[in-house]
Amino acid sequence: MPLHIIILAAGQGVRMQSSLPKVLHPLAGKPLLDWVITTAESLLPQGIHVIYGHGGEQLQAAMKHKSVQWIAQEKQLGTGHAVLQALPLLPADAEVLILSGDVPLIETDTLTALIAAAQQSGQLSLLTAKVPDPTGLGRILRDEKNRITAIVEEKDASPSERSINEIYTGVCCVSGKDLAHWLPLLTPHNAQKEYYLTDIIAMAVASHQHIASITPQHLFEIQGVNNRLQLQQLERVWQEKQAEKLLLSGVTLTDARRIDIRGELLCGKDVFIDSNCVFTGKVILGDNCHIGPNCMLSDAVLQQGCKVLANSVLEGCEAGEDCHIGPFARVRAGTRLARGCKIGNFVETKNAVFGESSKANHLSYLGDVTLGRKVNVGAGMITCNYDGAQKHHTSIEDGAFIGSGTQLVAPVTVGAHATVGAGSTLRKDAPAGELTLTVTPQKTIPGWVRPEKK
Ligand code: UD1
Ligand code: CA
Repeated sequence: MPLHIIILAAGQGVRMQSSLPKVLHPLAGKPLLDWVITTAESLLPQGIHVIYGHGGEQLQAAMKHKSVQWIAQEKQLGTGHAVLQALPLLPADAEVLILSGDVPLIETDTLTALIAAAQQSGQLSLLTAKVPDPTGLGRILRDEKNRITAIVEEKDASPSERSINEIYTGVCCVSGKDLAHWLPLLTPHNAQKEYYLTDIIAMAVASHQHIASITPQHLFEIQGVNNRLQLQQLERVWQEKQAEKLLLSGVTLTDARRIDIRGELLCGKDVFIDSNCVFTGKVILGDNCHIGPNCMLSDAVLQQGCKVLANSVLEGCEAGEDCHIGPFARVRAGTRLARGCKIGNFVETKNAVFGESSKANHLSYLGDVTLGRKVNVGAGMITCNYDGAQKHHTSIEDGAFIGSGTQLVAPVTVGAHATVGAGSTLRKDAPAGELTLTVTPQKTIPGWVRPEKK
């Protein structure tokens, strides 16, 4: 049977108190809906259908990298009504998996088991869970033989039904053929005057179908997000899980609660990560890398033995073995360091390619620049790469020594083993092997008197 997945995302999300649609709020840096679509994709379905109500344009723009079918539900008349909107788009022989756009951490394995359970019983399978606090959720009713007989919504439940702690998670798997029978029969005769998808359970039971149920391995998988408190709590659950994985794979974290991974972090052996570091995009740390406190790394690849000291920000960069970066360094996109380079405090680099063992230890801007091997950049050197309209390139060849407080006005080349005197402003190339300086003669004004405050 061809698998089709319906993602319910038409609810307004009023409790987020936000102008951003709820399912676009990020968890670990990625919109809730993106999480659900990504997991749906992992099941290789024939179609993914997202039911939306509010913020359609915003949703489609944010998910334009995903190939899904968008289906509008003009009025939010309930989950049954929402699924009904997708019905005309499903082939008659479809197996239909229903997910919620605001339940981001559901896992592929759980869904595979749920689909298998539906296929085995030839019928309907529900993802259910026993939870400590079932308030607000649909309760699973079972008969004396433990067979599921219905789902009752909290607002329609009797006091004894409310004391049941097995709940429906909002995730189920059902054949398209059955949906086509049942959905048109739903009525809004209930406390919320909504078309409840969950009423199909009683219909299945009435037609003598067996209803399978499975439970997720982790409770966080079924945690929904209705407000920012729940979003933040789920974020911490996810981050703690990421931290545990790192620790158990041999990474040292000084505090598992003070690391944030908003993307993917891959680490070699004996990596050390100090407190309050944030990783976004894809970050790869080789063996024995050391990351100091309060660092931000985004799409960075560091080879083994690199050391990033406190309060450094790295994005879109690569570093060879044994580089030292920071403290307080800003390494921007297009920075590529060969092995053994040093970027010290208050140094900013952008589109900067460093040859082996080159150093810029203090207070510099290196933009659109190529450094050869063993170049020494003195404190306060600036590449003047921008003329107000265009960016220009600077080349500093092997073994050059740039004195402190210099400006290199690009385009300009400093030849191999050249020395540039401190305080120079280069507007022309400096020849290889020579000392070049732009000197303004030092003057002393004899007898000059410093003004005094009146
Ligand atoms: C639903 C279930 C309940 C279950 C709970 C799990 C029904 C009737 N009840 O509750 O048994 O315990 O989920 O969270 O199905 N949506 C639409 N269109 C609508 C209404 C809802 O797309 O007209 C979407 C929402 O955006 C959300 C999902 O469906 O993603 C669930 O809706 P929500 O209102 O959060 O759940 P309940 O109806 O309270
Ligand atoms: Ca509701």
